[in-house]
Amino acid sequence: MKHTIKIMIPFLMIAVLLTGCGSQVTTGSKAETTQATKTETTTAVSEQEKESVQSWATGLDLQNREQKNDILIAYFTPAENSGVDAISSATLTTWNGENMGAAEVLANMIHNHTRSDLFSIRTEVDYPLEYNDLADYAKDEQDNDVLPALTSHIENLDQYSTIIVVFPDWWYTMPQAVYSFFNEYDLAGKTIIPCSTHAGSYLTGSPATIRELEPDVKVIDDGFTVAANRVTTAEDDVTAWAEKHELN
Ligand SMILES: Cc1cc2nc3c(=O)[nH]c(=O)nc-3n(C[C@H](O)[C@H](O)[C@H](O)COP(=O)(O)O)c2cc1C
Repeated sequence: MKHTIKIMIPFLMIAVLLTGCGSQVTTGSKAETTQATKTETTTAVSEQEKESVQSWATGLDLQNREQKNDILIAYFTPAENSGVDAISSATLTTWNGENMGAAEVLANMIHNHTRSDLFSIRTEVDYPLEYNDLADYAKDEQDNDVLPALTSHIENLDQYSTIIVVFPDWWYTMPQAVYSFFNEYDLAGKTIIPCSTHAGSYLTGSPATIRELEPDVKVIDDGFTVAANRVTTAEDDVTAWAEKHELN
């Protein structure tokens, strides 16, 4: 039994090292779960033990799996901004046993690979969940150039040199909430990588739009984009894309 515990301790400590570096901002449910696990496990490991496992992990190049603290994944999905429990909505995507917006699935896949912080762009307004109602509402919002007020805010923006912005295409551009996001922050000097879920419009001209909104940023043109109805099968492609951009 003692032997089993001894064998398990390094794995517990590796779990701490792999999950425990860096702060979470406003996160989805998976990231919150990770945070909870981290808190429980940390208490069981002394500083000395941590150091010894850290040096062992360095030798095996496991450091590459540490959470990336200079990259932020900011995503918007109407499912988290509907004001109702969206769990049973027919418009949601089921991924790893959970129902969520397609853009949130993509954001979580990128997070799973990069270990970067996740930030959910939240609006004061509640968006309709029913597709046609949402389409009408969003068109009206866009036609009237409405910038919906945001209720989530990044407090440690200086920490990030790269921001991956994940959104669903809405009326051949980004949702107005994402315009609100760019309106709120001066992102000068940072790298922005737009990524989207879509029904045929791919990145829908977002790199050029972001250059107009934030003239002093570097925008990556080949952000990851995937048809919303295929997002659950995109994990290998997301990994290959993240590796290509050295986001892992
Ligand atoms: C208001 C609205 C407008 C849309 N406009 C487009 C569009 O212009 N081009 C496109 O490819 N898909 C469009 N779609 C499809 C969405 O991109 C798709 O439903 C979304 O990526 C799903 O992600 P979500 O579950 O996070 O909302 C639109 C959907 C809605 C609700």
